[in-house]
Amino acid sequence: MKRLWQRGMIALARSSAVKDFMQGRDGMRKLAQRFVAGPDVASAFATAERLLDEKGIRTSFYYLGEYVDRLELVQENVDQKLAIAARLADADLDVHISVDPTQIGLQTDAEQVGPRARSIGRAIALASGGKPGLHCLMLDMEDASVVDVTLALHDDLRRLELPAAVTLQAYLRRTEGDLIRLIAAGAKARLVKGAFVGAKHVAFATEPEIKANYRKLVALMLSEEARESGFYPIIATHDDRIQAEALALARENGWPQSTYEFEMLLGVRSDVAEALAQQGERVRLYVPFGRDWWPYAIRRIGENPANGVLLARSLLAR
Ligand code: FDA
Repeated sequence: MKRLWQRGMIALARSSAVKDFMQGRDGMRKLAQRFVAGPDVASAFATAERLLDEKGIRTSFYYLGEYVDRLELVQENVDQKLAIAARLADADLDVHISVDPTQIGLQTDAEQVGPRARSIGRAIALASGGKPGLHCLMLDMEDASVVDVTLALHDDLRRLELPAAVTLQAYLRRTEGDLIRLIAAGAKARLVKGAFVGAKHVAFATEPEIKANYRKLVALMLSEEARESGFYPIIATHDDRIQAEALALARENGWPQSTYEFEMLLGVRSDVAEALAQQGERVRLYVPFGRDWWPYAIRRIGENPANGVLLARSLLAR
C-alpha cells in the first residue's frame, strides 16, 4: 500500500501539466508550506531565523529545481546560491548551502562545475568572516553515476581550504570505503539512506539491507577513531531509533554535543527534530525554497500515506 501510494506520487511529481495546475492552486500552496519555505531567498531566511530563534534549529538551504539541463537554469541556480551567501554575512545564522552537481552544470557544461563550486565556496568562506566551520557548501549526492565526480568536487574544495561537506548514501555498496577515506581526512559528511535505486552489484536493494548498512556506517562515523581524526558526522534520517542509537554511540565514544549533528527535512517529523534540539543536540533542517516547489512537495507527501487526507483536503480547497 505504502509503495503504491509513493509510486503514484512520484508519477505526479514528474508530470509538467500536473505541476502547472497544482502550483496555481491556493490549497496546494498552503500544503506545500509545510515542506517549502517560500518562493525566494527572503522567505528562506525568514524560515531560518524563525527556526533558530524559536527552536534553536539550524538550516541547510536548497534552491528547488530538478533536472537542470539548460544553461540559463544553471546560471539561475548559481545566482541563488551566491545571493544566499551574500545575505549570510549580515545574518546571525549557521547555514549549509546544499548544491546538486547537476544544478551547477553537470549536464550542460561539466568542465565549468568545478569553477562554479569554487565561486560559491569562496562566497561562503567570505560570509563566514574568518569563523571556520560556521557556514559550508554541502554537496548533495545524486545517482550512482555521479558519485566519483561529486567526491572529486568535494576534495578539490577542501584542498583549496574552502568550507565543504559531502553527502554519502547507505544504499550504495561502495560507501563504506568512501566513508573510511573521508574519516581519515577529517572531513565533514552527511549520511542518508539514498533516494535512488541502483543495480544489484552497486547497491543494496531492500529496506532492511539499507538500514543495516546505515547502522554500520553510523558506527564508523561516531567511532573513537573518527572523533580523533576531527571528522564531523551529520546523521540525516527521520528514523528515531537510529537517531537514539547514534546518540548512545556518541556518548559511549566521548563525542561532546555539537561535534556532530542530526539533519532532517523541513516539515517531516518536526516533533522528533524539536525533541532532539531540546535535549541540547545540534539539529539542522533542510529548507527548500523556490518557485518550482510541486515535484519536491508531492514527493514528501508521497512518503507517508497518512498525508493522503491532507492532499485531498487541499485539492478541494481550490
Ligand atoms: P525512512 O524512510 O526510513 O523513515 C523513517 C521514519 O520517518 C518512518 O517512520 C517514516 O514514516 C517517517 N517519514 C519519512 N518521511 C516522511 C514524510 N515525508 N512524512 C512523514 N513521515 C515520514 N537522498 C539522496 O539520495 N541524496 C541526498 O543528497 C539526500 N539529501 C538528504 C538530506 C537530508 C537532510 C535528508 C533528511 C534526506 C536526504 N536524502 C537524500 C533523502 C534520503 O536518502 C532518504 O530518502 C530519506 O531521508 C528517507 O529516509 P529516512 O531514513 O529519513 O526515513
